[in-house]
Amino acid sequence: MRSLDLDALVRDRTKRIIVCCGSGGVGKTTLAAALALRGAELGRRTVVLTIDPARRLAQALGLEELDNTPHPVPGINGELHAMMLDMKSTLDDMVLAYAKPERAEEILTNPFYESISSSLAGTQEYMAREKLGQLAADTRWDVIVVDTPPSRSALDFLDAPRALAGFWDSRMARLLVAPARASGRGMLKAFSLSLTLVHKVLSKVVGAQLLKDAGAFMSAAESLFGGFQQRAERTYALLAADQTAFVVIAAPRAESMDEASYFADRLVRDDMPFAGFVVNRVVQDTVSELDAGASLRAAQVASSPVAAAALRLHAGVAKEATHQQVLIAELAAGHPDCSVATISGYNEAINDLDDLRGVFPELEPAPAK
Ligand SMILES: Nc1ncnc2c1ncn2[C@@H]1O[C@H](COP(=O)(O)OP(=O)(O)OP(=O)(O)O)[C@@H](O)[C@H]1O
Ligand SMILES: [Mg+2]
Repeated sequence: MRSLDLDALVRDRTKRIIVCCGSGGVGKTTLAAALALRGAELGRRTVVLTIDPARRLAQALGLEELDNTPHPVPGINGELHAMMLDMKSTLDDMVLAYAKPERAEEILTNPFYESISSSLAGTQEYMAREKLGQLAADTRWDVIVVDTPPSRSALDFLDAPRALAGFWDSRMARLLVAPARASGRGMLKAFSLSLTLVHKVLSKVVGAQLLKDAGAFMSAAESLFGGFQQRAERTYALLAADQTAFVVIAAPRAESMDEASYFADRLVRDDMPFAGFVVNRVVQDTVSELDAGASLRAAQVASSPVAAAALRLHAGVAKEATHQQVLIAELAAGHPDCSVATISGYNEAINDLDDLRGVFPELEPAPAK
């Protein structure tokens, strides 16, 4: 099995963007923070873009809150900044950047804007990539570590922004804009008649006011559609570039590994820079000389109930550890050209920087500067 060297990854000067992805709850946010800390302590100017992390993580980084701009993390031997994606203000900034000033005002104050900006699938992925694009344009950063949104599928980070941008161009969107436009531009009579009918039905279903807001919003936002689509393409190109490295995180469970494997295949097929797998929360068998079977047999002849219970407990751990090692070996065998790192589960919550350093217990402490 080829092992993924995380230290070499954050040290690699040809890599500037490290993307932590994987399905829900596998440890993307935690590992992004831990990797970024490591990169900073190895002497690179690092920023970590986290998404929706627990307050605890912000506190562990010595910050009361994380917000949409990078803040310096105090108390480390190096330069680390941390931030948390704020979808709404990232979108507001985009509207301000792309729309004409009077249009921008109209869009931002439209009641429909708020709901559409938070409810459309893919918005979070889109905004995360937008933020990444902004960070990448800033020469302050040697390394940008990116956490990805808690989607059901890791693929969303690649595909959802394009789909979202496509929505703006869709028939549905045009339908909403149609009445606002029909009067101004001489549309074909029959066409606008049928649209008016559809519009009538829609307004019964979703409510006239909402539909009016939506129409006005779409019409005002129309000048942005091209911009959104182009940005989605540009941020995709950034992900595909050689300076990027994807780390695909999985839990040591069959379905999680299958998903990671599927995602990695997609990256490889699309010629995206896949660095390797990280299998997180792997069970450690601390008494590996006593396997599950031997432990259970010993429990039957144990001299005390306490010893028997301990042996049975160990048998469970040993069995699970063996099972996980088999899964990891299968993952590696299915991807002979790819590297795999494993990280064991820790018992305590992450409360401070030392806990975050402890995510990679096998790494040498970073040299003091
Ligand atoms: N190696 C580990 N050992 C023990 N607990 C861990 C480990 N890695 C992550 N956790 C814990 O698992 C939980 C989920 O981790 P995290 O939030 O990093 O996952 P995520 O992939 O970002 O989740 P989401 O998809 O919801 O964003 C957290 O409580 C975290 O502290
Ligand atoms: Mg997360």
